[in-house]
Amino acid sequence: MPPPNSSVSASPVSRRRFLHYSATGAGLLILPSGLRAGPNAPSNKLNVALIGVTGRGRVFHDPLAEENVVALCDVNEEYLGVGAKRFPRAKTHVDWRKCLEQKDVDAVVICTADHTHAFVANWAMNRDKHVYCEKPFATSVEEVRLLRSRWLAKRHKLASQVGTGTAANHNRIRELIRDGAIGELSVAYAWGTRQLRRNGYWPAAGAPPSHLHYDLWIGPAPYHPYHPNYFKPGNFAPEGLPKPVNAVSAVCLSWNMFWDFGTGQVGDMGSHNMNMVWNAIDAKWPTAIESKGEPYNPEVTPVELECRYEHPANDWRGPITVMWHQGGSMPRSPLPYVDLTKIRDGVMFKGSQGFLVGDFRTGSRVVIPFGEKAALSYYQPRAEAAMTPTYNGITRWIEACKNPALKTPCDFEYGGNMMEQNLLGLVAYRVGRKIRYDGAAGRVVDDAAADALLKKTYRKGWTLDG
Ligand SMILES: NC(=O)c1ccc[n+]([C@@H]2O[C@H](COP(=O)([O-])OP(=O)(O)OC[C@H]3O[C@@H](n4cnc5c(N)ncnc54)[C@H](O)[C@@H]3O)[C@@H](O)[C@H]2O)c1
Repeated sequence: MPPPNSSVSASPVSRRRFLHYSATGAGLLILPSGLRAGPNAPSNKLNVALIGVTGRGRVFHDPLAEENVVALCDVNEEYLGVGAKRFPRAKTHVDWRKCLEQKDVDAVVICTADHTHAFVANWAMNRDKHVYCEKPFATSVEEVRLLRSRWLAKRHKLASQVGTGTAANHNRIRELIRDGAIGELSVAYAWGTRQLRRNGYWPAAGAPPSHLHYDLWIGPAPYHPYHPNYFKPGNFAPEGLPKPVNAVSAVCLSWNMFWDFGTGQVGDMGSHNMNMVWNAIDAKWPTAIESKGEPYNPEVTPVELECRYEHPANDWRGPITVMWHQGGSMPRSPLPYVDLTKIRDGVMFKGSQGFLVGDFRTGSRVVIPFGEKAALSYYQPRAEAAMTPTYNGITRWIEACKNPALKTPCDFEYGGNMMEQNLLGLVAYRVGRKIRYDGAAGRVVDDAAADALLKKTYRKGWTLDG
């Protein structure tokens, strides 16, 4: 096989087909034994582009080093330089649209700012590239629905995964609920306690540094002038504002609360914490949504927010309510001596026989049975052999790129459904009234103002479906 950054590599289609057949075993049947490729043979490796090289992108350097990183893309040339040291054979790009034109790229890992995720992911799938996309998957209902339908049409040949971090705890929680540990499920709650307050977009603060392609960072978002605070790690308190609670050093926490760059905590920790609920409830579209929170700010998403989603019955449970709480709003504790505020990112399920409480950060859970049957005598624990396997997201996605028949933990159907629900909470918050949703049609029923908020307007020159 030619070097990965060579322009004479095999055509992407034939190479991908070979990877696919090799992984499924079909290729091994037709290859002479002397030519059979082992799992680490160059011909079995995926040609990957990493789009967004530092920050979250760094987490993927090690797993991707096992494959061929043939392209790196970053709007910051200094960060591109950092990536190029690790992956010296990769071609480098500052514009993801150019990166996706690189013919030998089979698959992309997207770690850019949220307002570009749907663009990069959709353009990549349009070019038949597998996609791993960091959460939040998309920033509008329209974006979600486009990505999900595009992937569903190509799922036989493309792997997809959203970086929501499905862990063993998610599956243990699901099994406890499905096996009846809390009886008939009625309500599921997820919450995040992070509070990052901003007043509005930062004012203009001079020219961006020459190594930063600021106009490309803005990309499809409405233009806002450069300010260095968009690029600092998130653990800082802007002047005159209260110190953020639970802030950590991630640059996404410097821009993801602004409407034009992110979706706030319902998209950020909501992608992680709601995933613990979503993994357990087998839901799709809510039929009604109602939200409340602090007064609407047209520039900044709410810190404090509570969203109530009504989900219809499915084949194993009755209708349920799903609640999202953030930024100070919390569900009521099931017992006076249980302090849910000790859990920064948590979930709780209420059933006819008790409660189940889970923690995203520690990967732990507790069952709190109530009433006459508090001995849990009605519940039969699942045998270890029948437990659901848990897969590491990036590892499983790489395997699925080579064999798209493999299911990834958070593909664009599952992850898209969850994100559609989360984003509908923001729509209901913005109109300030209960909305009814027709999920099959992708429409808010009888509420033109809410329906209009399912879509975003993009900057001139940018198209979502390119
Ligand atoms: N799954 C998780 O646990 C987890 C954790 C942290 C962040 N994230 C997600 O990862 C993403 C990035 O977060 P971050 O804190 O690393 O942000 P960041 O601002 O540091 O961006 C990451 C990298 O992407 C580059 N970049 C930004 N926009 C780009 C564009 N349009 N084209 C090319 N490169 C671009 C940046 O220069 C930087 O190198 C966010 O969507 C965030 O939600 C996920």
